[in-house]
Amino acid sequence: MNKVLVLDFGSQYTQLIARKIRELGIYSEIFPFNTSPSRLKKEKPGAIILSGGPQSVYDKRAPHSSREIFELGIPILGICYGLQFMANLLGGKVISSSKREYGFATLKVTDNKGLLSGIRDKSQVWMSHGDKVETVPPGFIISGKTSHCHAAVIEEREKKLFGAQFHPEVIHTKQGKKILSNFLFSLAELKADWKMASFIEQKVEDISDLVGDKKVICGLSGGVDSLVTSLIVQRAVKDDLFCIFVNNGLLRKGQYRELKKKFSSKLSLNVIGVDASQEFLDRLEGVISPETKRKRIGKTFIRIFEEEAKKIGGVEFLAQGTIYPDVIESNPVKGPSSSIKSHHNVGGLPSRLKFKLIEPLKELFKDEVRALAEELGVDREFILQHPFPGPGLAVRIVGEVTQKRIKLLREADAILLQEIRKAGIYHKLWQAFVVLLPVKSVGVMGDKRTYQSVVVIRLVQSVDGMTANWYPAGPKLLSLISSRIVNEVEGVNRVVYDTTTKPPGTIEWE
Ligand code: XMP
Repeated sequence: MNKVLVLDFGSQYTQLIARKIRELGIYSEIFPFNTSPSRLKKEKPGAIILSGGPQSVYDKRAPHSSREIFELGIPILGICYGLQFMANLLGGKVISSSKREYGFATLKVTDNKGLLSGIRDKSQVWMSHGDKVETVPPGFIISGKTSHCHAAVIEEREKKLFGAQFHPEVIHTKQGKKILSNFLFSLAELKADWKMASFIEQKVEDISDLVGDKKVICGLSGGVDSLVTSLIVQRAVKDDLFCIFVNNGLLRKGQYRELKKKFSSKLSLNVIGVDASQEFLDRLEGVISPETKRKRIGKTFIRIFEEEAKKIGGVEFLAQGTIYPDVIESNPVKGPSSSIKSHHNVGGLPSRLKFKLIEPLKELFKDEVRALAEELGVDREFILQHPFPGPGLAVRIVGEVTQKRIKLLREADAILLQEIRKAGIYHKLWQAFVVLLPVKSVGVMGDKRTYQSVVVIRLVQSVDGMTANWYPAGPKLLSLISSRIVNEVEGVNRVVYDTTTKPPGTIEWE
C-alpha cells in the first residue's frame, strides 16, 4: 500500500493535508517534524509532505528536520513553512517580508510541466505567510509566482523536491486538489490504492503481528470510535479480545443497559460489564476543576481495566478508540500544535501504564471512522448517533458532580433528545445536549417563589468537531423543550440557549 507521511511543523492545516491525501485514495499519516530519517525510511513512504507552521526559519526555536530527509530519494513537497525550511536548508535565501500576506492571491503559472501541470493561469490560491523565498536553492526553478511572492512554486524535478508558498490543502485554493494530485500521481508516481477496506486489512495485519498470542482489552464507551476499534481488533485477535464496558454512572438515560445488550448479542463482542457508578461518584466528590474531573475519570477507568485484566490474565494490550481530533486537542504527541483540553482517552492516562496501547484510528477524522463502521457492518442508526464524550455527563455538569445533579441532568437531557428526534433534526446536528450550571435563579411556579437550577441547551452543527456553529433552532421548538424541562424536571426553573461557536467556545462546557 502506498503511504504518504506528513511532517508536522505546527500548522493548523496539517490534519487537512493528511485528510486530502486520503481523499485522493492514498493512505497518509502525520509524524512530528523531527522524526529521524531512519524512522521515516522504515515507514517506506512513497512521498513526504512538509506542513506549514507558524514560525520563521530564523526563529531561535524554529522546528528543523534533518537534512538527510532530502537525500533519501523520496519525493518531497514543502508547503508554506515547509517550503521555506527546505529552501533555506538547501542553499536558497529566505527573507522576512515586511508585509504579511494573508488571504487570496492570484497565481501566475510560469512553467506548467511539473507541479502546475493543468493549472489555469491566474488561478486563485490561499496565502498565509510572513517570510518568503528570495533566491531558490541551486537546481530549483520557479514555476509559479504571485504579486507579493516571486517564488510561490519551486521545483527540483530531478530530485523530485517541490514547494508551494500557498496552501493547496485548503478549499480556498481553487485547484489545490489538482496540485496535490500532480505531486502524488504524476511526480511521485504513486497509485490510489487506499480505501476503507484496505485500511481495515492493513490494521488487522499490523495488530495481529504486534499482539501475537497475547490478550487485548478494549474499553467500550458506547460511541462509534471504541466500537470500531474493538471490531478491528476482534478481526485480528479473535477470542483474545476482551471488551470492557464500564457503567461509570455518567451515561445518558438507559444507555448502559441498551448498549450492553447490543454489543454482546448483535455484534458478537466478548463483553465484560462492570458497574462502577459508585466508585466514579466517590472519585469525583468535591471536584470542581474540569481538568481534574477528566484526569480522575481517566484514572478510574484505567484502575478498573487493570483489575479486569488481572482477572483475565495474560493481557498485555489496551485498545483505545482515540481519533485524530482527540490527539491534536489533547497533547502535542504528533507535533507542536498547542494543547486545548485532555480528552480522557488520551490525556487522562497515567504516565506509567501497565499496558501497551493499540490505537488504530489515531489518524482518522470522525466521518472517516463512520465510513469504517459502515464497512464493518455496524447499523446506520448507531453510526449516525451523536458523539458522546468519554467522561460523559461529568463534563456537562459544571461544578460538583453528585448523584442528584446527574439525575437532574439525565432527565433534562432525555427530554431534549426526544424533542430533537420528534422535530426530525437529530441528523442535522453534530450534537444536542443539556448542560447543568452551578447557578440558581429565582422563578415563580403556581403561586410559589422558586429558587432552582439553570440548564443550558446546546445544539451544534459541525463537520469534524474541530469547529462548530450553534444551530438556529426555531422559537417553537425551543419553547417546547424549555417548558417540558421546567415542568417535568424537578429542580430546574430556567432554561437558556447557548449561541457560541467553536472557536472561541468549545462544544462541551468543560
Ligand atoms: P470540544 O468540547 O473540545 O469537543 O469542542 C469536541 C468533540 O469532542 C468530544 N469530546 C470528547 N470526547 N473524551 C471524548 O471521548 C473527551 O474527554 C471529550 N471532550 C470532548 C465532544 O463531545 C465533541 O464532539
